[in-house]
Amino acid sequence: MNKTVIINEVGPRDGLQSQDGELSLEERQRFVQALLDAGLKHIEIGSFVSPKAVPQMAGTDELAKALQTPDGAELSALVPNMKGYERAQVAGVGTVAVVVSATETMNQKNINMSLDDTMRVAREIIARGKQDGLAVQAYLAVAFECPFEGPVSQAVVTELAAQLLEAGADLLVIADTIGAANPAQVKALMGSLVLGHGSARLACHFHDTRALGLANVFAAIESGVRRFDASTGGLGGCPFAPGAKGNVATEDVVMLCEQMGYTTGIKMPELLDVVDLIGGMLGRPQGGRAHYWLRSQAA
Ligand code: COA
Ligand code: ZN
Repeated sequence: MNKTVIINEVGPRDGLQSQDGELSLEERQRFVQALLDAGLKHIEIGSFVSPKAVPQMAGTDELAKALQTPDGAELSALVPNMKGYERAQVAGVGTVAVVVSATETMNQKNINMSLDDTMRVAREIIARGKQDGLAVQAYLAVAFECPFEGPVSQAVVTELAAQLLEAGADLLVIADTIGAANPAQVKALMGSLVLGHGSARLACHFHDTRALGLANVFAAIESGVRRFDASTGGLGGCPFAPGAKGNVATEDVVMLCEQMGYTTGIKMPELLDVVDLIGGMLGRPQGGRAHYWLRSQAA
């Protein structure tokens, strides 16, 4: 069995987009650089969305241009539509992420498009990426429960997942956007997706709203998933999904994986310093569930 787990840090996007107030571009750049220095090789640096919809993500163009991608690292950015894709391409981003929500209402609330239109745009962006040599990741949001439509059936998610993979997405990220999934559901869904498609192009994105984030990571690992989104200090939420709390904390996922014998390549003391750095920038201390214990170990 593969004993390496890839952690994709989404704090600079999912984490910051839901904070009151905006960090400067210089602060956002320092945050991403500190994450790189802590050994994170996969980082979502921001999004190319409307600055009116999400002012926290304004200027991702300049941020992307200012950042150097070290060898072997993958800096990605979220794009909601073709305009976002084109901005990302101009800014030199090598990997873009498109988001399809599994329900009609969530697509409307998030990006003002129907589910059909979102799927069409996702396919167009995947095809464009192939022409232009960009990697395209597809997110399937509210894959377990939608804040507007309630529980989402596994059959719907399975069908959309197959369509996105067949369209040629380089990675499919199953996202529990509001943190409503439990480990039994995760095992059922991810087990069936791994069986159908293999695990190489699958990842999971969990929020910790009900304190089940880490348990869900474990359930997905047991199902064969080896790639997870996480956010330093557990930053996050979603301005368009009421009730969503922060992502599962990167330091907690690193701890879980390393204690079970998996390698993440992430340096814990440096990562804890990044938690302090971002807490200082936001003026609010951040930290995952094991923060105090991890701090005492690092001391
Ligand atoms: N980047 C910047 N501006 C964009 C844009 C993009 N990717 N896409 C559209 N716009 C601009 C348009 O140019 C237009 O500008 P104008 O008012 O100055 O003419 C304005 O936004 C409205 O364009 P329209 O195509 O009608 O978009 P909309 O109002 O239906 O909004 C989105 C659609 C996707 C741009 C907007 O809902 C959005 O940015 N959502 C972000 C969602 C998000 O980040 N969710 C969290 C992650 S899942
Ligand atoms: Zn999220």
